[in-house]
Amino acid sequence: MSTPEIMTAFSTGLAAINLDEDAPTRRGPEAERLKRASATIYDLAVERASGHELWNWGMHDQEVADEVERLLPGFGRFGTDGFSEQLYFQALRGVPAEFAEHAGRTVLEVGCGPGEGLNFLSRLLPETRFIGLDLSERAVRRANALLSRGDQLRFVHGDAEQLPFDDGAVDLVINVESSHTYPDLGRFLQEVARVLRPGGHFTHIDVFTRQRSAHFQRLATSTAGLEPVHEVDLSEQVRAAIRRRMAPDSHFHRALARERMSPLARRIAAHSRTVMFGGVFAGYRPDRTIRLLHRLGVVPWMRGLPMRSYRQHVAVRR
Ligand SMILES: C[S@@+](CC[C@H](N)C(=O)[O-])C[C@H]1O[C@@H](n2cnc3c(N)ncnc32)[C@H](O)[C@@H]1O
Repeated sequence: MSTPEIMTAFSTGLAAINLDEDAPTRRGPEAERLKRASATIYDLAVERASGHELWNWGMHDQEVADEVERLLPGFGRFGTDGFSEQLYFQALRGVPAEFAEHAGRTVLEVGCGPGEGLNFLSRLLPETRFIGLDLSERAVRRANALLSRGDQLRFVHGDAEQLPFDDGAVDLVINVESSHTYPDLGRFLQEVARVLRPGGHFTHIDVFTRQRSAHFQRLATSTAGLEPVHEVDLSEQVRAAIRRRMAPDSHFHRALARERMSPLARRIAAHSRTVMFGGVFAGYRPDRTIRLLHRLGVVPWMRGLPMRSYRQHVAVRR
């Protein structure tokens, strides 16, 4: 498939599972097409990766930032703006367990991308075994090449809907901004319930359309073995991070300014990346130049899906 064909397959597939009110599950060839497109897009993103890669919108909450700073001084100055790390910290602090209780246990992240989020958590919990799984082979290869540390942190290629682990093999499953692309969300939750040991937890964070949210709520309360513990709406904290990232003197804009490209290409890149990293969810509207370039067919608007909320859901395996 050519790149435009991949982009079309991805956006059509995403719209189907996130906007279809009555039948949001996709199986068979349609599901395979979406997964192939998704894996290819993230493979391409790895090819373009330059530094520390975290592929989520992030969040900003001063209390969370202060807590992380106490545990890992300077965490937001190691080549990132720290917002995505705050989101990973939130994934962990939402689990009803002291951090020390994770010592000697196995944590699995499904949809780990290039692994930086899990690497960050492994610095907080050095006595814990971490496994990252992703559908993008290149993301997994990059993560293993740059980050893996024997049994403490390793990465495997796989599909969220068919986890390559034994029943009850995992103590905690983390899932950050990944499940909105899974064609069969119910199958994923069944797999989470299967690989978790009784008493183990599932911490899930994602962005939702109204329809996907209703679908998720139905599944979260009906998946055998998974019992909801609590849910947090993180929308405002996520918007706070995106607005900070959109500010002219942000880490995001300083990093972009260092890339070699013409001023116009830089402006277009700023627009595309702002949209990709949740700009529309935080109220971003393109300026006149971008609107004109869009009318001329030079810039895709890439409005994305009408995302309503960004939430964390925590469940326990019974
Ligand atoms: C937006 S990125 C988030 C990556 C990472 N969690 C982070 O926050 O930086 C979504 C990730 O989910 C992965 N993904 C999509 N569908 C998947 C599937 N069916 N199984 C496993 N991973 C999947 C993608 O390859 C991508 O790396």
